[in-house]
Amino acid sequence: MSVTPPGPLGDPLFGNGRQFADDPFGFLRACADSYGDVVRLNLGPRETYMLTNPADVERVLVADAERYRKPQFDDAMDTLLGDGLLMSEGETWQRQRKLANPAFHNRRIGALAGVMADHAESHVADWADGDVVDLQLELARLTVKIIVTAMFGADVTDEEVKTVQENLEPLGARFEPDPRRYLIPDWMPTRENREFDAAIDTLESVIDDIVARRRGTERDPSVDPAGPDGTGVRGPPGDPDADLPMDLLSVLLRARDRGEQTDENLRDELVTMLLAGHDTTALALTYTFYLLSDHPEARERVEGEAKEAVSTGPLTADAVREMEYTERVLNESMRLYPPVYTLFREPKLDVKLGGYRIPEGSALMVSQWVIHRSERWYNDPEKFDPDRWTAERRSQRPRFAYFPFGGGPRHCIGKAFSLLEAKIILATVCSRFDLDYEGPDLSLRGSLTMHPNHPVPMRIRER
Ligand code: HEM
Repeated sequence: MSVTPPGPLGDPLFGNGRQFADDPFGFLRACADSYGDVVRLNLGPRETYMLTNPADVERVLVADAERYRKPQFDDAMDTLLGDGLLMSEGETWQRQRKLANPAFHNRRIGALAGVMADHAESHVADWADGDVVDLQLELARLTVKIIVTAMFGADVTDEEVKTVQENLEPLGARFEPDPRRYLIPDWMPTRENREFDAAIDTLESVIDDIVARRRGTERDPSVDPAGPDGTGVRGPPGDPDADLPMDLLSVLLRARDRGEQTDENLRDELVTMLLAGHDTTALALTYTFYLLSDHPEARERVEGEAKEAVSTGPLTADAVREMEYTERVLNESMRLYPPVYTLFREPKLDVKLGGYRIPEGSALMVSQWVIHRSERWYNDPEKFDPDRWTAERRSQRPRFAYFPFGGGPRHCIGKAFSLLEAKIILATVCSRFDLDYEGPDLSLRGSLTMHPNHPVPMRIRER
């Protein structure tokens, strides 16, 4: 075996940067098809290797996780999210994850179903038969409202929702593949860098306002929307915090009172949750509605389950748990359109993967997009087939042939939250409306997450 993994030839200045920027999704899949388990890419100043075998993904994310860290690609992003869960490392990450865990405990999440259903219900109350909405925008605004109420114990004004949503755009743009970026430093006052800085300032000031509204209420149980029952799991018996609110903001404010959290930690964590906690779920749902519009037989089955779920009164976690087919549809949608389409890791020391030596400090790419659509793990991978997710068919595939939420110690802390939220929104919408896609063929744009490259117009038909 050769010492260097195979990979595509690039041009002298940008390497493979241009091919990647022109069509990241097609380019990565073509590389996987041509070069196998480990592909060497020339995407900028760092050596980059893409892993395409689920067994290697499992080693990196789970078995040997302590040998890898998250690479720091971007100083400005580090300033924004640096101490938050998504980007932090080492002791800071451990402390933040431990602090955040009670806010994401299964029983607390289950008790948030009512808040999710209320927001979903009042959001669609404005929809009328025949209207055309930009579904991605609608869902992004709805999921912002839900995350702020559920995790920050606060309500946001429509104006704040709009501000958050609009300022995410320049942040995402920063992550769009553009080979010229390596030639332009972050401090250069380009239009993009200026917009990025302004977006950060605005987002931080929305967060600061929310924190100011909540200051002093972190020991008042009535602020936690999960309610007293849902928060009964706050800690072991005798835990001094057992009766206190467990929404993330209350938890962090108390940690700050104890001196375990600086204002900066707190702000980074809230910005992280706001970003990580709404765009992803909104995208998963956007792609799900898009696929359902194209597959009427699947849509009918989801509608049937949705009507059943709402038939017994206000939606609960138990009622949507019964929506088994809908869950398969969601799984299949995140297979075909994973909102997070690639993860990056950096080896802390030289490692061996797929028979090759991968040097310390290089960038490792493990791409959900590539693996989820590979013929090696899925028959007819382009086909929308929710029945791939029966227990029997699942068991025939390697575990990391599907990893929309990552894996190992850094797996998504919001997985249960987002699956419940997605089912509640699907139940609310599908029990009343059919959504028919009226846009162009779906084209995709890679930024921090995988976005449609155009608005997503859906015609609403009331049943
Ligand atoms: C469909 C929805 C979602 C998808 C597809 C998704 C995907 C992911 C993935 C792939 C990771 C791992 C990143 C890595 O290993 O580098 C991750 C981490 C994370 N997610 Fe999610 N996520 C979703 C929803 C949420 C929600 C609703 C929240 C918050 C309420 C959230 C908060 C986070 C956080 C804080 C991390 C970092 C965890 C850590 O490193 O300890 N996510 N997510």
